[in-house]
Amino acid sequence: MRILGISAHYHDSAAALLSDGVPVCAIQEERLSRRKNDAAFPLAAIEWCLDYGGLDPGELDAVVFYEKPMLKFERILTMALRGFPRSWHSFPRAMKNSLGGKLWVKGLISSQLGVESPRILFAEHHQSHAAAAFLTAPTRRAAILTADGVGEWATLSLGRGSIGGDGAVSLELMRELHFPHSLGMLYSTFTAYLGFPVNEGEYKVMGLASYGKPSFEPQVRRMVRRTADGALALDLSYFEFHESARRSFSDRFVAELGPPRDPLDSIDPATPEGSRYADIAASVQRVLEDILVDLARSLKRETGLEDLCLGGGVALNGCANARIASESGFRNVYVPSAPGDAGCALGAALVADRLHFGQPHRETPDHPYWGPPIDAQELSRIAREDGLELEELPSGSELTDHVARALAQGRIVGWMQGRTELGPRALGNRSILAAPHSSQMRDRLNRGIKYREEFRPFAPAVPVGQAERFFKLPPGGARLGRFMSGVFPVKPEWRDRLAAVTHVDGTARVQTVDPEMAPRFHALLEAYGALTGIPVLLNTSFNLAGEPIVNRAVEGYSTFRRSGIDLLVAGEKVVRKPRAVAVAPEAVA
Ligand SMILES: [Fe+2]
Repeated sequence: MRILGISAHYHDSAAALLSDGVPVCAIQEERLSRRKNDAAFPLAAIEWCLDYGGLDPGELDAVVFYEKPMLKFERILTMALRGFPRSWHSFPRAMKNSLGGKLWVKGLISSQLGVESPRILFAEHHQSHAAAAFLTAPTRRAAILTADGVGEWATLSLGRGSIGGDGAVSLELMRELHFPHSLGMLYSTFTAYLGFPVNEGEYKVMGLASYGKPSFEPQVRRMVRRTADGALALDLSYFEFHESARRSFSDRFVAELGPPRDPLDSIDPATPEGSRYADIAASVQRVLEDILVDLARSLKRETGLEDLCLGGGVALNGCANARIASESGFRNVYVPSAPGDAGCALGAALVADRLHFGQPHRETPDHPYWGPPIDAQELSRIAREDGLELEELPSGSELTDHVARALAQGRIVGWMQGRTELGPRALGNRSILAAPHSSQMRDRLNRGIKYREEFRPFAPAVPVGQAERFFKLPPGGARLGRFMSGVFPVKPEWRDRLAAVTHVDGTARVQTVDPEMAPRFHALLEAYGALTGIPVLLNTSFNLAGEPIVNRAVEGYSTFRRSGIDLLVAGEKVVRKPRAVAVAPEAVA
């Protein structure tokens, strides 16, 4: 049975192909269209998935969309009527922005793919999140917590999943929280207030939080109240997102916290204004974490299970995930590489396969590499045309030793291997790598390549077997690190020697690299460790600010030429900039 899953029209559109219950491929539209967070109907992603799977649309048994458009329409209409007349002006805009072409999705799929409508299915949004989290994790019984901004009505769900001996899958929903009460919207409102773009600047709030103290916690707690049944409710007098497309917070919100930050102003936590923003970020972060830990604990009490699967965009909050792992009582916490809406393309396909068609469960290979493979020959061609010298280092250790030496000499490396990652993190297949030891390296990357706020940390990668030498992981922490889903303390004695990847509060978003999942990346870390004594590398996504992560060799090459990257590796091919034309990072800044 062949099933195509699609997510689209909100942000991060994606497509995924499932064949006989096992994922074949999945990719976000942005990686192909080269428009960051592309929300358009993912025609390029669909075309690539079908091509990769060697299928015509007519050979698909089903096409599944990741949410139910009519339910979403009902929610937008209901909210507009509830807020009438205040909300009336924003309604057409909300329709256009939030709904886009969604209501007509069936017609769109049918006309674009030539798939007749009985084969077009719709999964519920949070069910797609739950399936993406549970059915890709190495567990057969788990509690499931999903949280995001909003799908149709649900913004948070608590449930459990099980896989019987015969492979029969059940996903049981225990409780659900409805819009406008939403942890994702709470965090996004603070993201907007702090002057960052909503749906992509949330991790900046988390980074900024480390610079502050949660001194505004009482104010934030007034905005979000816990209810008797253990859920939460927003005090809507502080918010406007539910009735206005113009602004997500109200005058009362501003009266409580002070004026919002202008997105065009720079932000420096050392100034009084900057430290107020950092304190506000720390306060909302603390409240979010406390609520999530509390919800996870209640799920633990209620289900008595050992494993917890987290889904939804909120599961990208690595600080919250780490606290859930250490404080909720679950032995294992699983977060997929794409817990947000992109991963719902795969989740929706899994829902259709296991629940709609009742197919027996089949294990999903435990890795994030579902996109296009790198074509090293393409790099050879481009480098030759551009007049740069290309080396080929065929045997495994020759390549990793060579690259490790360059890294130890302070070179910045663009590293492309195998298939692209699904989800927002580069996990060693489309990564920029560098020595992690000095804060100068962090500044060089920020100024010469990533052009981003100084307060945002870079992440370290370490062989999973050596992670505990450098980082304080809670039980189950190594698993969270598999897809870089947790933020953990760097051991104090290593902080000076890991300065480029240690955040101001002494933490790091660690990737624990499994040799079976990423053998060449693991070998590179080991080779670097053999040279320097520290098998840790700085690993940041291979892209320039504002661009999606590179996909093909040509994009890697273009990024390499436009930035302070010294060495580019695709498969076993290596290109370096001649010294004379090397772009000195300082010159770029
Ligand atoms: Fe979502």
